[in-house]
Amino acid sequence: MRRCRKMLPVLLATGVLMTALSGCGAKGGDGRQIIRVGHNQATDHPTNIALMAFEEFIEERLGDKYDVEVYPSELLGSQTDMVQLTQTGAIDFCVASNSILETFSENYTLFNMPYLFASAEAYHASMDSPEIADPIFESTTQAGFEAVTWIDAGTRNFYTVSVPIETPADLRGLKIRVQQSPTNVQMMELLGGSATPMGFGEVYTALQSKVIDGAENNEMALTSNGHGDVCKYYSYDMHQMIPDILIGNCDFLNGLSEEERQIFEEGFALVNRVEREEWVKAVESAKEKAAGEQGVTFLYPDTKPFQEICMPMHEMVLGQYPELVPIYNKIQEYNERYPSEAE
Ligand code: GCU
Repeated sequence: MRRCRKMLPVLLATGVLMTALSGCGAKGGDGRQIIRVGHNQATDHPTNIALMAFEEFIEERLGDKYDVEVYPSELLGSQTDMVQLTQTGAIDFCVASNSILETFSENYTLFNMPYLFASAEAYHASMDSPEIADPIFESTTQAGFEAVTWIDAGTRNFYTVSVPIETPADLRGLKIRVQQSPTNVQMMELLGGSATPMGFGEVYTALQSKVIDGAENNEMALTSNGHGDVCKYYSYDMHQMIPDILIGNCDFLNGLSEEERQIFEEGFALVNRVEREEWVKAVESAKEKAAGEQGVTFLYPDTKPFQEICMPMHEMVLGQYPELVPIYNKIQEYNERYPSEAE
């Protein structure tokens, strides 16, 4: 069982929310300890469904002591805000994209690399492998939080208001929203688009007001976040498989008894399992809805030209962070075992 190291003092500017929340270990009116879990997806999203299952599971087993409260839809702020709240212990858990975590620990850069995984199978097997995931997941314990499980967020692809993306050249001159991570900005620039980093919650308005020409994400963004109401072309260039990560505050996790921690570990595994089952169904119906009701056209370009442009990033990242090389090499073993279907 993993254990967080002692938390370093962290002084972060999360002012308003910090005062609004009474902090880790807060007791409800019934004397139970409140466990706050924040995320940025809608209530019908697989992430929320999985966290509701977690709430039920923990309360079934430890309900006399803990009251789990799940806050969806950025109610506790953007992902960056929520990571900081988890870090300081103002909340206990949140879901953050691996992209956002790159700014908290360089190790997370690895899973943000474009075309890192050859197939969904290689991605899933890599993320399930403790040899690969643990060194990354444990790398933020000094900062006060650690990853407790990963959550599937599918494959990221480009989508635009009005320009069908068939080749990298089509991205030239377009303002494309990317997540706030140096790797994503670099990838976008290599591909020729103009990278516009912003939080997830701001994307819809930015698309609608034409501040940006497009974005990149999985299919759920079209429906669950309404981006398909504005963007009419979704192009499967398959540039990244970026997991979401459930992170927990170290002081909270370290305060659990052995028995409680065991139950929480089962709860984390349940989040992963439920979300992955729900994900497959959700993506299928998102595609159906986007094509049928929102009028989105799905394009299937040759991914090779996109991949060729991005591949030098692997060497650059590994040159910058040589400690990631052994983990990268383990991922290659899964890539060989589960190659791309296109090959
Ligand atoms: C996906 C991912 C989120 C992330 C979002 C984004 O929806 O699941 O965690 O915040 O992409 O692009 O910001």
